[in-house]
Amino acid sequence: MSEEQISRRSFIREAASVGTAGMAVPYFVPAGALGAPGRAGANDKIGVGLIGCGGMGRANLNACAAQSDVVVAGACDVWKSRRDAVVAQYKDTAKPYHDYREMLAAEDIDAVIIASPPHWHCRMAVDACEAGKDLYLQKPMTLHVAESLAVRNAVRKHKRVCQIGTQIHAGQNYRRVVEFIRSGKLGPISVARTFNVMNQGPGGVGSAPNSDPPAGMDWNLWLGPGPKRAFNPLLAQSSYHHCSFMAYSGGWTPGMAPHIIDLPVWALELGYPSVTYCSGGRYVIDDAGDGPDVQEITWQYPNFTMTWMMSLVNSFAFDFGRGTPARRLGIYFHGVNGTLYANYGMHEIVPEGDFLKDAEPPAPSIPPSPGHELEWLDCIRTRKQPSCNPDYHCKIDVPICLANLSMKLGRAVRFDPAAERILDDEAARLDAPRYRDPWKFPREYV
Ligand SMILES: NC(=O)c1ccc[n+]([C@@H]2O[C@H](COP(=O)([O-])OP(=O)(O)OC[C@H]3O[C@@H](n4cnc5c(N)ncnc54)[C@H](O)[C@@H]3O)[C@@H](O)[C@H]2O)c1
Repeated sequence: MSEEQISRRSFIREAASVGTAGMAVPYFVPAGALGAPGRAGANDKIGVGLIGCGGMGRANLNACAAQSDVVVAGACDVWKSRRDAVVAQYKDTAKPYHDYREMLAAEDIDAVIIASPPHWHCRMAVDACEAGKDLYLQKPMTLHVAESLAVRNAVRKHKRVCQIGTQIHAGQNYRRVVEFIRSGKLGPISVARTFNVMNQGPGGVGSAPNSDPPAGMDWNLWLGPGPKRAFNPLLAQSSYHHCSFMAYSGGWTPGMAPHIIDLPVWALELGYPSVTYCSGGRYVIDDAGDGPDVQEITWQYPNFTMTWMMSLVNSFAFDFGRGTPARRLGIYFHGVNGTLYANYGMHEIVPEGDFLKDAEPPAPSIPPSPGHELEWLDCIRTRKQPSCNPDYHCKIDVPICLANLSMKLGRAVRFDPAAERILDDEAARLDAPRYRDPWKFPREYV
């Protein structure tokens, strides 16, 4: 490798790390932002409620609560000890709620963070929109194409401010990659390869027996629209664990791909794929769950293909590492002039021979984010949509839902990007969400 190439590489690493530090800059609300349509006045506070008081929801809530105009007004969980812990933390202002619908009806709640397990996301998001609340909705946005469109349409119809919880989008590294890709220096890009690999060994998340739920936990309401099943402590423990159970999470592809395919979708402004094929299954893992441990996905776009590799049984990751089992992820953009590969915090360019010899990274042009939650709060004040609103995020969520559908069917699924329609009656029938009584899929939004 030439000196010039080495210096270009170090520049990129440096740019990425300067960028990360840049995220710590103080965040100022533009004068006049408060009191914009939808919010009452300059001294108004934003009453935030949390639905789902596990680790992720609490992290999102704490980031919001650090803002002086945010009041933590409520904590909702079907698990008493978890909601009590949040209420104790914000004891001057937060009320406890067992049923999220009661929290949505409360007047002092302006906005909610939805960090429940994924099988709840669509119903809760639509209910929040109908109640006139803004929402920070954790990924995966949904588990079905129809749910994805329902959330997007409900946000549009009720004019709510909605951020999907893909917080890597707010970092500096992704911004520098998007700028490089859009500069055209890589030449025509025909393929992006994306992946997340881990090694949970053959034992997966383990095999605790089903049991009675712990005292103070409403298991029936945890299951909600999902299929009825006995309580299992592994399923209820955290997202790392519920990713092993398909009906309540969709598995590890919806678990990680939203963060990772975000980068090609953003950089290349991808629409929907017209053909999706997913091969995979549960080949090795023997644990209490039923999720696949291998998935290989191909998405076909006009003049472009994107792939995804998911493994829970081997963590070899090409240039991103090998040897000790670990979680490894990455994205490769293959252009005529070279390959750019990236993960959350770094990116590197590998030229094709002499191509790219004189290419310097473009000057940074995408402004830094104040942070994913803070961008959402700012948009609540200004009534703009944040960067990862459902209109944008559907281009991430729909392909992921199509992939799980393809794996179930064992064949490619065709999709009409313009009509937003699955072109396969059996696949469309299989995609239709079936909620357990008394919950109803909000079909009126599709
Ligand atoms: N953005 C990220 O990097 C990231 C990281 C981890 C998790 N997540 C996402 O965040 C969400 C939560 O993950 P987690 O690890 O905190 O999971 P968790 O299981 O620890 O927390 C979810 C909580 O929701 C509660 N809950 C279930 N049904 C409910 C209902 N009807 N009403 C109120 N509460 C209910 C559960 O009791 C639990 O306390 C998931 O969607 C996950 O995919 C995102």
